[in-house]
Amino acid sequence: MPSFPAPAYPAIRLRRTRASAWSRALHAEHRLSPADFIWPLFVTSGEGVEEPIASLPGVSRWSVDLAVARARDAAALGIPCLALFPNTPADKRSDDGAHALDPDNLMCQAIRAIKDAVPDIGLLTDVALDPYTAHGQDGLLDEAGYVVNDATVDALVGQALNQAAAGADIVAPSDMMDGRIGAIREALEAEGHANVQIMAYAAKYASAFYGPFRDAVGSRGILKGDKKGYQMDPANGTEALREVALDIAEGADSVMVKPGLPYLDVVARVKDAFDVPVFAYQVSGEYAMIEAAAAVGAGDRDALILETLMAFKRAGCTGVLTYHALDAARLLNG
Ligand code: PBG
Repeated sequence: MPSFPAPAYPAIRLRRTRASAWSRALHAEHRLSPADFIWPLFVTSGEGVEEPIASLPGVSRWSVDLAVARARDAAALGIPCLALFPNTPADKRSDDGAHALDPDNLMCQAIRAIKDAVPDIGLLTDVALDPYTAHGQDGLLDEAGYVVNDATVDALVGQALNQAAAGADIVAPSDMMDGRIGAIREALEAEGHANVQIMAYAAKYASAFYGPFRDAVGSRGILKGDKKGYQMDPANGTEALREVALDIAEGADSVMVKPGLPYLDVVARVKDAFDVPVFAYQVSGEYAMIEAAAAVGAGDRDALILETLMAFKRAGCTGVLTYHALDAARLLNG
């Protein structure tokens, strides 16, 4: 066997493959496409209503009729799935969040209207009580103000069944209660929704990046306290693997890490450890940071959008929930 010296400069010049656009295209390890995106959409009451969200520039709440129009826009650009979030009217919010189980709530109206008009787009629905509770927490409170686990899971099961009956394709529990994936899976099977998927918000952190979202669903002003008693501690990475393992064992079809960019290490660890589709949520505060940076000229907006979204693919994501989905799809479609 001839022996060769360890390859080194100048035999190896990594800049060779970077020298031209065609070569960079040929050697790209990952590609972004509109099919990678799930577009979050906020739904509000009324007809012909668009309500811009000040802390989320460029994002609005839409009444159901206009949400249908947005669904058409998304489908035309090749975006496969929408994530729906309701801005529940104040008089429908209560301590127990019971409106989440109303078959005629905004979420169900939006599901039916979009499925009717744009049947080929997937609909992912948020399972959690915070858009429906008067206190803004994701679950039911005991006298001490603690978010109780098991009674909340019962309510989430009812909410998920309500959404599935309305036509949801993927129910996505974002509440971080223990045991809710198994309970929801069992109920979906029992009620004839065997093909309704579950995307578990498996590793969801108690994050400071959710502020604009809470404005969008009207829960920021009313939220008492924080969510650290159920959402994960940003200090923990290994614990995310336990969360993911449990959700997979309980029947999750896919798992999500949230927020996105500050938690790409978690995405990569989850992807390495498990053979399941991993998604990330580039959350509202991340979107707002990019918009703020672009607005002051700190970076080129289009490039910031595409680079951050590519980072999710590189980290191992199957797809990403992003408020930039429409802009990014337009850029990618050229
Ligand atoms: C609540 C929920 C939140 C988000 C999605 N579902 C906020 C929270 O946990 O307080 C945040 C999404 C975003 O910031 O874009 N169940």
